[in-house]
Amino acid sequence: MTAGTLTLAGREVPRLGYGTMRLTGPHIMGPPADRPEAVRVLRRAVELGVRVIDTAWYYGPYEANLVLAEALHPYADDLVIVTKLGGARRPDGSWYSALSAQELREGCEHDLRLLQLDAVPVAHLRWMPGAEIPFEDALGTMISLQDEGKIEHLGLSNVSQEQVELALTQTPIVTVSNAYSVLNRADEGLVERCEQAGIAYLPFFPLAASPVQSGAGVTGAGVVADVATRLQVSATQVALAWLLHRSPVMLPIPGTSSVAHLEDNLAAASLRLSPEDLAALDAA
Ligand SMILES: NC(=O)c1ccc[n+]([C@@H]2O[C@H](COP(=O)([O-])OP(=O)(O)OC[C@H]3O[C@@H](n4cnc5c(N)ncnc54)[C@H](OP(=O)(O)O)[C@@H]3O)[C@@H](O)[C@H]2O)c1
Repeated sequence: MTAGTLTLAGREVPRLGYGTMRLTGPHIMGPPADRPEAVRVLRRAVELGVRVIDTAWYYGPYEANLVLAEALHPYADDLVIVTKLGGARRPDGSWYSALSAQELREGCEHDLRLLQLDAVPVAHLRWMPGAEIPFEDALGTMISLQDEGKIEHLGLSNVSQEQVELALTQTPIVTVSNAYSVLNRADEGLVERCEQAGIAYLPFFPLAASPVQSGAGVTGAGVVADVATRLQVSATQVALAWLLHRSPVMLPIPGTSSVAHLEDNLAAASLRLSPEDLAALDAA
């Protein structure tokens, strides 16, 4: 991959990663529809240079982590697995916040068991809006888990800039992972703050996907599709290349359940956008 690297969790990693959420069944519930293909996707990702894999015990639940371990355990020394704690699923697939000390600890134990790890390289505190637990308390539990050696490095997800500033007064933060894409710029200020602080920014929904339904939102989008047509590449490559151009701390983690889409997405690392293309996309 030719989009450069950054240092994350003590490893030098290419700036294009992979997210496991789309490996599960429909609505992020149940096992992969095509398990052998899910295993192939993960192995091909690593073969093509991916060294950051974002996951969560509650994708499936359990299923994404199980297939990740099946495909890649024992893990390469330079692979950075990034998990998240703070969410959980009801049997009907609905999501709820699991941010109490007990729930965060249980989530961490799920990750360690399912992924067959002694310590998670990076764990995000995944904030859930409306949670009754104070942010500082949940962060305190994450710091305790790190002190106990179960988490190597801490990140934050779905957080405001104020929460990032507060966390930085308590502990080093190596990643921020919020929704961000060429079609969703709500987090511009935090991207700049991460760049200034040298914190890796892992945008989720980098292809402007729907939270629960399959499909990359950027494929139907006007300017993105126009640039893609002109350059004779896919709209997803344009969306990912725009992210990679946006900041040196940007590390997108696009999700897919197919090797063909994975290969398409990773090709974005070598797509150079002209100043004119970037200006058009900036204005999208
Ligand atoms: N921190 C958080 O709270 C949080 C929240 C959501 C997600 N995440 C992480 O972020 C990762 C990325 O988000 P995401 O996977 O939901 O969204 P995304 O990367 O924006 O898009 C994924 C969707 O686009 C489709 N797609 C992928 N590549 C494609 C291609 N080349 N051509 C056409 N369609 C393509 C996928 O379908 P196919 O399977 O058919 O390719 C899937 O439905 C997740 O996997 C997860 O690890 C984190």
